[in-house]
Amino acid sequence: MNVGIDSISLCVPESYYSLADLAEKHGIDPNKYLYGIGQEKMAVPSPDEDIVTLAAGAAKPIVTDEVRDSISTVILATESGVDQSKSAGLFVHGLLGLKPNCRVVEFKQACYGATAALQMATDMVRQRPEQKILIIASDIARYEQDSQGECTQGAGALAMVVSANPRILNLHRARGMHSFDVMDFWRPNNHKAAQVDGQLSIEVYLESMRQAWNEYKADGGHELAELPWLCFHQPFTKMAKKAFTALTESEPEQGQALTGESYEHSLLYGRQIGNTYTASLYIGLLSLLENNPQDLTDQNIGLFSYGSGSVGEFFSASVVPGYREHLRTEEHQQMLADRQALSHEKYSAWFYQSLADHKNQVMPKLSNRPYRLEKVEEFRRVYGVNDARANEIKQAS
Ligand code: CAA
Repeated sequence: MNVGIDSISLCVPESYYSLADLAEKHGIDPNKYLYGIGQEKMAVPSPDEDIVTLAAGAAKPIVTDEVRDSISTVILATESGVDQSKSAGLFVHGLLGLKPNCRVVEFKQACYGATAALQMATDMVRQRPEQKILIIASDIARYEQDSQGECTQGAGALAMVVSANPRILNLHRARGMHSFDVMDFWRPNNHKAAQVDGQLSIEVYLESMRQAWNEYKADGGHELAELPWLCFHQPFTKMAKKAFTALTESEPEQGQALTGESYEHSLLYGRQIGNTYTASLYIGLLSLLENNPQDLTDQNIGLFSYGSGSVGEFFSASVVPGYREHLRTEEHQQMLADRQALSHEKYSAWFYQSLADHKNQVMPKLSNRPYRLEKVEEFRRVYGVNDARANEIKQAS
């Protein structure tokens, strides 16, 4: 029985900050960010958006009436959770009107969480094929302002439904994991921004990939020459290029046959969004499926997931005939094209001053996405369905 991704959907904030503008603020050559790092824009959430509103916004289009009743489990993967105790998925469960007979849980292991969710969901569906599992990866990547990491910030969510006989991607059984305890990137409980040893994080990412690749092959995985398409976790798109080089160098004979074409379409969305931690690999996968002009039917894709701290996993999948009919390409491309640019002042205020930390706060009505954070009452977050028309009227007046 084939098991894998049956539907997939993206949600990003409506605003972005240009990395050329950030370079100007930092007084450096914009080409460092545009080409050296490989990023053009960072998605910036408004004060009434967070990982819950982005997650629910991503899941809404694929949780159709038909799918809703088959969802047995919701796994929300994030490393920018809104509560130390309650799973962010429960807010999403409520906003989407999912049935009570459903388990809801939050997964955390840096950027790797959604891959753990995907593999566990796949095994659960193999056990009980009648169920569908909703996985949502949602994150806001935030570093200290004016730090080296600032240029890699971003925000977004990606939702996928895992089922038997999926319409988009069949996941293969072979998997290769590599875990070890290292402090390359972390966020202490009392910090809003991630702490990072940037150069170390790049080294351990690449070492984790080499080890996970060897484990994947030992588990009966494909040879590199049988994986014409590749997607790597992309904290910034240059990192994927580094990963491609390291992988092909580790397999000199087979690697020669692969060119940059095998991964370059997977970078197009990430370049416009920035790091989305747990969602980043899967936004790369979506970008490959939606932007590659070739018909990928029955072709294999190799995927590498990395979460600092660290866990890496190499796995693979093949594309299901008719996959294009089940993608939401136009909707996603329109969503990215319709965003508005922010000034440095507004970006700084929105990214670094969270109103939602206050004990009581009514959030300004800014987002037009399907759901918004309405207020915080005695530290309780209150979400609601957005009345986008009210925003339009307010903006026009
Ligand atoms: N024109 C073109 N390129 C230029 C340039 C210019 N004017 N100036 C510099 N560059 C190039 C450099 O040559 C370099 O290229 P290579 O990497 O190919 O050598 C690139 O721009 C970056 O320059 P630096 O190495 O000097 O950049 P930096 O030290 O200021 O910061 C960083 C880079 C360490 C990645 C930093 O942005 C950072 O800490 N980011 C956050 C951590 C991160 O994303 N780590 C990735 C692995 S961990 C992970 O994947 C988990 C996760 O999601 C966080």
